[in-house]
Amino acid sequence: MNLKYDYSHKGDFEMKVTTFFGLEEILAKELLHLGGKEITPFKRGVSVVGDIGFLYKINLCSHTALKIVIPIIKFNANNENEFYDNIKKIDWERFISVTDSIMIESVLNSDLFTHSLFVSQKAKDAIVDRFRERTGKRPDVDLIFPAFKLYIHVFKNEVTINLDSSGDPLYKRGYRSDINDAPMKEVLAAGLVKLSGWERHIELIDGMCGAGTIAIEAALWANNIPPGYYRPNFTFMKWHNYDEKLFETIYESCISKIKNEPVNIIANDIDELTVKKAITNTKNAKVDDVVTCVNHSFFDLNPSRKGGVVILNPPYGERLEVQEIEKLYKEIGNKLKKDFQNYNAWIITSSPEAIKSIGLRPSRKIQIYNGSLECRYLKFELYGGSKKASKNPDTMVKK
Ligand SMILES: C[S@@+](CC[C@H](N)C(=O)[O-])C[C@H]1O[C@@H](n2cnc3c(N)ncnc32)[C@H](O)[C@@H]1O
Repeated sequence: MNLKYDYSHKGDFEMKVTTFFGLEEILAKELLHLGGKEITPFKRGVSVVGDIGFLYKINLCSHTALKIVIPIIKFNANNENEFYDNIKKIDWERFISVTDSIMIESVLNSDLFTHSLFVSQKAKDAIVDRFRERTGKRPDVDLIFPAFKLYIHVFKNEVTINLDSSGDPLYKRGYRSDINDAPMKEVLAAGLVKLSGWERHIELIDGMCGAGTIAIEAALWANNIPPGYYRPNFTFMKWHNYDEKLFETIYESCISKIKNEPVNIIANDIDELTVKKAITNTKNAKVDDVVTCVNHSFFDLNPSRKGGVVILNPPYGERLEVQEIEKLYKEIGNKLKKDFQNYNAWIITSSPEAIKSIGLRPSRKIQIYNGSLECRYLKFELYGGSKKASKNPDTMVKK
């Protein structure tokens, strides 16, 4: 069978970069900026073409990628025997030696194949049987840090086998040792900052910061710190074609672009212990000189009035009564109207009651997922002075 990726690491090949729903366009822009070609967004991801150096670079530098996989082969299978036989026919020795460890995950969208664990098991058997018949030995399975992590995607009878280059999902940056009850994934936090249009020269306030993730991700972006800077490894480092010298060159070049300039980022939370956790995380991420952590109620904050961006990830309401949610979001709306004139405020919430209670009309509504929770990320433009009476209905403050 013809492999799409010949593993020689010469020349360009196709990669699929996955992300959270709602961040596809942001990721596409990022990949373009990093030098990607033939960029095509799809649901929860972007397809891109580049060489092996580009693969290393996006694993290290992308803020909004979850993982980067290489589609290596596509075939049709109408039953489990065809599936097994086709996998066994693949020239696996070109990638894997018998001493390498493997892991297989499957995602199915098919009436023919309905049990993902069974499909993964069958694929593992086919690979192991091929090796055993040829060498008398077999590769082991490692579910923690395998050398070869394969993602099998089945749509109807079309099977695509992908090689995962990242290993642990890229949101596992490694700087967050202290988390609170509802920590946000780092990739989502980075996406929210980028969607907000915030730029490094303006003030950013995370008014309900929890573990400090949004503020830390903003600081990484502002000072060109590659999000992969803290990670000890990526799976591609275990591959036989790993070019350590090339990776080091890319790493050094990215590190040399880190800025150490002042940025005004404030991370605030009402809970003292939570703020301590945020401080630990900013130290781990080496951005404690850029992010100022404070411990107040959001309703007591006195912003500079020069304007800026405020991002809020308030409690959603899984643990709060509807009345409490309505009260909290009504107060947030009032506070924004009163004290955050000239700011753009962004609120992420999964609660429709919360959205209605804010009492401001959003100028943008973005559908996004926080884990399995469907959310809206809402933008409120809070004009001060004469602009308050703007005729633009999208930006007028509701009475
Ligand atoms: C959903 S969590 C934020 C999670 C955060 N984005 C993260 O990545 O960890 C909501 C946070 O709002 C804080 N909070 C609730 N009411 C607040 C208030 N009035 N002022 C400031 N923070 C508040 C809670 O202490 C909690 O840490």
